[in-house]
Amino acid sequence: MCGITGYIGSNQAVPVIIDGLKRLEYRGYDSAGIAVIQEERLWLLKKEGRLERLEGILNGSHPTSGLGIGHTRWATHGVPSDDNAHPHTDCQGRIAVVHNGIIENFASLRRWLEREGHRFSSETDTEVLAHLVEHHYHGSLEEAVRRALEAVEGSYALAVICADEPDKIVAVRNQSPLVIGVGENEYYLASDIPAILNRTRKVYLLEDREMAVLTRDGVAISNGEGKRVAKDMFTVTWSAEAAEKGGYPHFMIKEIMEQPQALRDTLRGRIQGGRVEFSDVDLDCCLDGVEKVFIVACGTAYHAGVVGKHVIERLACLPVEVDIASEFRYRDVLWGDKSLLIVISQSGETADTLAALREAKKKGIRVLAVTNVVGSSVAREADRVIYTWAGPEIAVASTKAYSTQLLVMYLLGLYLAQKRGTLPEEVIASTVRELRGIADKVEAILEKAGAVEAIAEKYAATASTFFIGRGLDYAVALEGALKLKEISYVHAEAYAAGELKHGTLALIEKGVPVIAIVTQDELQDKMISNIKEVKARGAEVIGIAKEGLAGIEEETDELFVIPGEDSLLTPMLTVVPLQLFAYYMAVKRGCDVDKPRNLAKSVTVE
Ligand code: F6R
Repeated sequence: MCGITGYIGSNQAVPVIIDGLKRLEYRGYDSAGIAVIQEERLWLLKKEGRLERLEGILNGSHPTSGLGIGHTRWATHGVPSDDNAHPHTDCQGRIAVVHNGIIENFASLRRWLEREGHRFSSETDTEVLAHLVEHHYHGSLEEAVRRALEAVEGSYALAVICADEPDKIVAVRNQSPLVIGVGENEYYLASDIPAILNRTRKVYLLEDREMAVLTRDGVAISNGEGKRVAKDMFTVTWSAEAAEKGGYPHFMIKEIMEQPQALRDTLRGRIQGGRVEFSDVDLDCCLDGVEKVFIVACGTAYHAGVVGKHVIERLACLPVEVDIASEFRYRDVLWGDKSLLIVISQSGETADTLAALREAKKKGIRVLAVTNVVGSSVAREADRVIYTWAGPEIAVASTKAYSTQLLVMYLLGLYLAQKRGTLPEEVIASTVRELRGIADKVEAILEKAGAVEAIAEKYAATASTFFIGRGLDYAVALEGALKLKEISYVHAEAYAAGELKHGTLALIEKGVPVIAIVTQDELQDKMISNIKEVKARGAEVIGIAKEGLAGIEEETDELFVIPGEDSLLTPMLTVVPLQLFAYYMAVKRGCDVDKPRNLAKSVTVE
């Protein structure tokens, strides 16, 4: 995890770096630090806690310097502390390093460096990098970094500066993201694009093992063998404003409200003449002859995969297995040569998802990625990519990325159905029509956010909740429960409604809120019975039901009605009140909605 930034140019580096770090804080906020070079001396400030604390210490003053690096940390090796905060330095205090990733062989490297006389001042894996660079430094920082990395195993995005070369930042990546922004005679470095979007739209995306040397005269990029590479500059089309809060109190609510637009953007160009067409990507080499599909992802993206399984099996009559990436990578998967792996990842950088992708590629399996980040590792390494055009998602809790992932699952299911001839044309046409109308229905639900807020107000003090549903409603219950627990810290469990009586029903007692999702036509009666079961034990039932469902009002204490819809597509609607419920619960409980404790946006370590 962690976020890194860097700046070289004629402006003051410290404010630029702090601004970049603010936009990266969602990647981790256990500590923050900055190093700049002033008159051939290294100046460094790093503190445990949020960036605000560092800013408070600076209190508006900072050294005059046009070059520096910064870091915001999500602790992996070593507790959050001042010592473990980045940047880390060598023994002489002339070299400073910021790092995102994990150095797997740091313990043996540290032992060796200590024998060589290096003294360490932190518990981090990163500090070995500063000492290794020092060990190899003989007047050329890029050469020293390159030599140092020859001994390193693991993942890294690094930025290194040295007081002996006061006009240079060396940046290099391997399995952790890093972008370089190009301004007017000034250059930026960041873990991702939103961090620099307010400064430039022109970026270079570094590939694994590529090194960039940033000077005041430009950026020189070389590959792992040290050969210069000519890279295409990528122009980012996201507006800077899209990465800001846009007037909302939190990124999460802004992103929830952006869902209709995100859905429209993701659908754009992918429906032609009543059929699904992926004109932006040639999918057929991935899909031809496929007999079995594996979907692998983590967290919310995994929940989109659970919906994807139902959808692809129903529409395209293809068997689908869906797995959590951290489990999948260590089980004995029975691949067939006609298998397809679909990985879903908002960030495109999730370590476990990437590992599953690489495992499949090693076995010669075709891989299709669904991701939100252009140029991400997942996007680069898969055979084909379907982008979710959700735009930058800043809040740690994923919302609009999930909705667009669901939409892609439907598009893919329909596309496969078209290819395999598993559905009559009129069914395809009517499902496509419904999909076209989904964004409007999401909009209609969002207009009723106040009703959800009132329900949250009523249950804000609750300690424990249950989310129940059947079939696709259960898939969405999983996501509703995750949202609630991650941002409001209320215990929440999702249960397949029919499974409750096999143990969990014992936990239902007077006043426990049970959120019951009831949209699957053929399972409605069974759900009503399950609701009666929990009510009989004292539960307070909050129903999320399709409009026109007879008898539901009498069975529920609170009811949120979603517009009528084909049961297959309701997950795209039912998730919206669940996101709103989690959001308002977190706000009313005084939680840090966008940056929940112990979590980070992009999980680039195992
Ligand atoms: C929860 C959430 C996480 C992510 C998970 C995978 O709100 O956002 O569960 O879904 O960490 O991340 P990506 O999609 O970036 O691979």
